[in-house]
Amino acid sequence: MMSDPLPPAFPAPGAEQCAQLETEAAKPVVAVCHVTVSFDGPPVLEDISFTVAPGETRILLGPAGVGKSVLLKAINRLVRAERGKVLLFGEDITSMPEEGLFPLRARTGMVFQEGALFDSLTVRDNVGYQLLQDAGIPEEEIDRRVREALSFVGLAETFSMFPSSLSGGMRRRVAIARALIAQPELLLYDSPTGGLDPVTSTTIIELIVKERDVHATPSLLVTHRLQDAFTLCTHRFDLDQGAMVPLPKGQVAPKTTFLMLEEGRLIFDGSIHELLRSKNAFVREFLE
Ligand SMILES: Nc1ncnc2c1ncn2[C@@H]1O[C@H](COP(=O)(O)OP(=O)(O)OP(=O)(O)O)[C@@H](O)[C@H]1O
Ligand SMILES: [Mg+2]
Repeated sequence: MMSDPLPPAFPAPGAEQCAQLETEAAKPVVAVCHVTVSFDGPPVLEDISFTVAPGETRILLGPAGVGKSVLLKAINRLVRAERGKVLLFGEDITSMPEEGLFPLRARTGMVFQEGALFDSLTVRDNVGYQLLQDAGIPEEEIDRRVREALSFVGLAETFSMFPSSLSGGMRRRVAIARALIAQPELLLYDSPTGGLDPVTSTTIIELIVKERDVHATPSLLVTHRLQDAFTLCTHRFDLDQGAMVPLPKGQVAPKTTFLMLEEGRLIFDGSIHELLRSKNAFVREFLE
């Protein structure tokens, strides 16, 4: 699948940090260290290293099929790394038993590509799904928290509806509410605007900016829409107005940075300014 010869691996800052991770005071929320993933054929991801620090939003760019979803899934081990290691909340999950993974996954909110709602369940049961698995939480408490998550995404009125009666954009918001329900310490958004029109996409990005600026939840967000990525960088959420507003001209969100994959290799890790100045031919082509 890869062009031959392979592009040189990007000397990701994550790579040299790997050795120090165990001793650092401010540990990254996610540390991916020299990770390679393959299924039956050649590697889908090769020697990937990067980190997500507390409060950081990392935007993972790349065209279709380069391994963005696989990389996201490797972070909570829905996909297993063949080489290298993944630290989630400072714990090495690379070969951890499944039981050990449950509490770590419960601290992670994931918005799957296409939303992945259960069509046979109401919005309430979709959003409350994770809480419903825990027999100790009273129904009224689940109702309260579902309502809270639904109002955060502006969909309080959909509580008793079924996903099939919602628009594509509404379904995506419900999927985000589901990911937020347990107040996660990490959010993984897989192409949250994929397949949506530009106006609806902007409402989803506004929600992600709101979550970033209200709760400062560290996030890794996949997109192949540059417009979404730039909107995330150049806007903040204004609580008084209850809306996303542009940052003053020339300013960018300080902790929102970029990663780019090209056919399973990480070819970029840095700020929006570094991205725009990159001389890498693949980055340039992607930007243009
Ligand atoms: N479970 C799997 N088994 C075998 N191959 C897989 C599996 N999951 C993904 N792949 C392969 O890994 C490669 C990367 O897939 P991935 O879904 O990560 O791409 P992507 O960058 O998310 O693309 P898109 O932008 O279209 O969502 C593809 O060639 C895909 O066929
Ligand atoms: Mg994908």
